[in-house]
Amino acid sequence: MKKVVLGVTGCIGAYKAPDLVRALRKRDLRVQVILTRAAREFVSPLSLATVSGEPVLEHLFPDAEPGETAGEGPDPTGGVRHISLTEETDVFLVAPATAHVIARMALGLADDFLTTFHLAVRAPILVAPAMNTNMLTHEATRGHLRTLRERGAAIIEPGEGELACGWLGPGRLAEIPEIVEAVEHALEETATRQDLAGRKVVVAAGPTREPIDPVRYLTNRSSGRMGFELGEVAAARGADVTLVLGPTDLEPPAGQEVVRVETAREMRDQMFAAAPEADAVIMAAAVADFRPAHNSGFKLKSTGFRRENATSSLALVANPDILGELGAARAADSGSGPAVLVGFAAETGEPEGESIRKLREKRCDLIVGNQVGQGRVFGLDSTQAVLVESHDGQAPSVSRREPESKRALADAVCDVIVRRLERRPPAGIAERSEAKRSSPSQP
Ligand code: C5P
Repeated sequence: MKKVVLGVTGCIGAYKAPDLVRALRKRDLRVQVILTRAAREFVSPLSLATVSGEPVLEHLFPDAEPGETAGEGPDPTGGVRHISLTEETDVFLVAPATAHVIARMALGLADDFLTTFHLAVRAPILVAPAMNTNMLTHEATRGHLRTLRERGAAIIEPGEGELACGWLGPGRLAEIPEIVEAVEHALEETATRQDLAGRKVVVAAGPTREPIDPVRYLTNRSSGRMGFELGEVAAARGADVTLVLGPTDLEPPAGQEVVRVETAREMRDQMFAAAPEADAVIMAAAVADFRPAHNSGFKLKSTGFRRENATSSLALVANPDILGELGAARAADSGSGPAVLVGFAAETGEPEGESIRKLREKRCDLIVGNQVGQGRVFGLDSTQAVLVESHDGQAPSVSRREPESKRALADAVCDVIVRRLERRPPAGIAERSEAKRSSPSQP
């Protein structure tokens, strides 16, 4: 049975929470309620525990009084409940969501059970705001809702009508059937889409590190996050994923084969080893374009550099263009290489023109263009991209995305991959039938 974690926060709409719980349970869903301190003023934990059939979670500390501060509370099973609960959660719904809780979620605060759980959970997040019209339309609230949406949360729009404060306008908690429908939709989205089942996807992620000497190296600001999202989404949609990962501090997601590399040349070797078996290859890595011409076997001395106005130079040589080489190899032998080849373009200027140029130059199927710099993209959860896709004998198509989470962008990239793989047999099968054709002596 799927489990919905329902966060109930403190506004008059909270009186509808028991009905919402009952409606969800009628759909054969388990409901675990988290109650904020303010919500307790509007609805009793006992009512919610009775209708949900589960004890209501209120405190980070098991024996804390309302008003406790952040910390980690053990759960009866010996774990930390706001973390262990994440593993059981299929959807996290906050309904009603007050302006204050929306702001705390947007800012990533973690000062009670609900907000701490919000940071830890990776299930789809749904937010059903309920508040006075002016509070809802205030730029602060709108900005926080935008932030949540960009990170991938779905906002269940409030309805219009008479509000508890006597006003007429938008701000009423969405109707219960609408909220239930949104929950079911989110569950369907995560559960049913196995459109990459049987496919092999290889993702290159993170930066590369090019040694100058045993101590120093050249690298860049890539965190690897985009590649992680791509790997996770492709795996969730059924693909067998290999992540070829440059050095990054972030832990790669579980459940994927991870091949660690350091330099561009190591990455190239691993990509060429994996590509023949792959249906899709995604180069989301920020590969260093150059490396020091000499990797000194000993630490270079600073002697001589410390004089005022002293300058020095580091000779660089070009690294292999892995994506370009994969594209060229595939063009030279159409049977070789993945059916879908995806690259990224990180540009400080407008990304569209460069993405079109790279699509042609590197002979790939899709370039995901991003604007970088000034705090954009690197290391962040959200992005705004342009998708430039090739079409046989036609001009490339350009699709500009709204600001969105990297997870949502990863889904859009997988959508393109799925569409392009349609009616093509999986790479392994194609290879095997090719081998059969070329060895007639086989039975
Ligand atoms: O030419 P540019 O570096 O902007 O191209 C970016 C795309 O090419 C990315 O997909 C990146 O992973 C890939 N790339 C590569 N090998 C390089 C440089 C970039 O595969 N040496």
